[in-house]
Amino acid sequence: MFIKNITLVNYRNIEKINIDLSPDVNLFYGDNAQGKTNILEAIYICAAGRSHRTHFSKELIRFGAESAHIQLIVEKEEFKDKINIQIKSNNKKGIAINNMAVKNINELFGTVNVIFFSPQDLLLIKESPALRRRYIDMELCQLNRVYAYDLSSYYRVLRERNIFLKNKPDGIMMDIYDEKLVEYGIKIIAEREKFVERLNEFADRIHRDITGNKEGLEIKYVKNVSEEGFYNKLKYDLKRDILYGSTSHGIHKDDLIFEINGINARDYGSQGQQRTVCLSLKLAEIEIVKSMLGHSPVLLLDDVLSELDRSRQLYILDSIKNVQTVITSTGIDDLKEKKNVRVFNVKGGKVY
Ligand SMILES: Nc1ncnc2c1ncn2[C@@H]1O[C@H](COP(=O)(O)OP(=O)(O)OP(=O)(O)O)[C@@H](O)[C@H]1O
Ligand SMILES: [Mg+2]
Repeated sequence: MFIKNITLVNYRNIEKINIDLSPDVNLFYGDNAQGKTNILEAIYICAAGRSHRTHFSKELIRFGAESAHIQLIVEKEEFKDKINIQIKSNNKKGIAINNMAVKNINELFGTVNVIFFSPQDLLLIKESPALRRRYIDMELCQLNRVYAYDLSSYYRVLRERNIFLKNKPDGIMMDIYDEKLVEYGIKIIAEREKFVERLNEFADRIHRDITGNKEGLEIKYVKNVSEEGFYNKLKYDLKRDILYGSTSHGIHKDDLIFEINGINARDYGSQGQQRTVCLSLKLAEIEIVKSMLGHSPVLLLDDVLSELDRSRQLYILDSIKNVQTVITSTGIDDLKEKKNVRVFNVKGGKVY
């Protein structure tokens, strides 16, 4: 899979660009604050349905403009898809695939698959479980529309249950909420479990390669509830849930642990080790997409090369064969020697 063309109109600091990308490596270089990350963000929105930086899509509209527009042309073997997203000032988005309006964001997932790697990904290791859940959900939603449906259904039921808890709940309705929560929850647990298993198949080998076999990587899925025990836990803690007006058990409390040689990278890993864990994860995801969907995703690397040491940079550049890659950087030194690189200079929201 590769992105053939990207058009942006009134998107952040970009008034209008229309560029053909190379199916190999594309480098967007330029000074700080010129619009490099904005271009990657727009691509990411076409895959994930939302920005990696903000919940408020009106921030994406160029100051003074009414709306912003993103268009991607994506090629997948003999197929060609056109994604159009219009961002409106009321924070709503109008989405169309091949000129057909898309009502539910789930229908967008999978039209273009991207793996996004940015320096903020370190937070994935260091920060709260919510970020790790978001990570696993965003990856799974892109790969599996049924998961996306089950997940949004789960969160809808959870919201309703929490409102119900606050309003003197009666038994029968409570049972219905609990049954629904368990129904969607166990499907999500099963998919998360499979995804982590797949991640482990690839990530450990990649991590060993990068670290010269000094470090092994294991990702552990920490379930808040087991499939079998979920319903009983809800019943057992119902009084507490009513007291606090919120649901204390479920997949909305799951977490992931990243272990380097059996030691938690979050608590004990150096900055460099944590960064390498992220790198191994991203490269493992490429393999997962290939094995599940039969085509390569598009790799977006936002300013990450300069943060890695030379051997890790070379490892990345060597492993991105046959994967369309879009890289941003403030310099072009790293990639000068590479043959198959299309180079773009970004300056004041324009691309040369
Ligand atoms: N809605 C908007 N309208 C106009 N300009 C905006 C809007 N949102 C963000 N910008 C501007 O876009 C500029 C470029 O942002 P971007 O994050 O793409 O920079 P960058 O080239 O990746 O820089 P860096 O190298 O520092 O990461 C910033 O100066 C920011 O102020
Ligand atoms: Mg940037």
